[in-house]
Amino acid sequence: MNRFVDSMIKIVYDINVYRENLKRIIQKNDVVVELGSHVGNSTRIIAELAPDGKIIAIDNSPESLSHMEMVEKDYPNVKFIPGDARLHQTLEKVFKKIKKCDVLSVDLGGGYHPDTTFKVYFIWSSTLKPEKTIIRNSGLLDFVLTAETQEDIKSHKGWLESSGNAGIPPRLKEFKHWSSKIYQEGLNDREKNKD
Ligand SMILES: C[S@@+](CC[C@H](N)C(=O)[O-])C[C@H]1O[C@@H](n2cnc3c(N)ncnc32)[C@H](O)[C@@H]1O
Repeated sequence: MNRFVDSMIKIVYDINVYRENLKRIIQKNDVVVELGSHVGNSTRIIAELAPDGKIIAIDNSPESLSHMEMVEKDYPNVKFIPGDARLHQTLEKVFKKIKKCDVLSVDLGGGYHPDTTFKVYFIWSSTLKPEKTIIRNSGLLDFVLTAETQEDIKSHKGWLESSGNAGIPPRLKEFKHWSSKIYQEGLNDREKNKD
């Protein structure tokens, strides 16, 4: 069963499927934001796939530091930013470095809390508006495959259009440091660059 082949948002669990999908979707000029790079095993794959692009990799674990330093040395197209993907300041740092994001990959751990993974995905995606996203998380995969609906709300640009203009939800406690400021700046920027 390969039901995600044409989708711009891919949800996977198996690390091999995750990497296969990275290989399928990343183009050589792409700007890729990788949340949860760990020691850079997938970052190296992404860096090879986008030699003329830019990869911003984020992780908050201390063990990532030395490994990601080596990845940066081996691949000049990689920039590692140590930080927590749940924090406003981390997104702000990334947002200042890139004007566009083609691919967002979110792997905070295959078995990581699906609620947090979704919130991180939602906030980064609605701010950076990537054309393609890949999320590695078993809970979200379970949810998507278990749920059904009779209604037809579907996005076609790679991020969730139904809530893309809503800004960052101010009521979520874990994200109390987030504001709608970055989102609004992104929106203004994209409006200016429209051709
Ligand atoms: C399964 S590993 C990622 C593996 C990597 N994507 C790969 O393909 O080799 C998950 C990583 O997510 C990182 N992580 C978890 N929560 C995070 C958060 N809130 N902010 C940044 N990194 C986080 C962990 O430190 C860990 O290194």
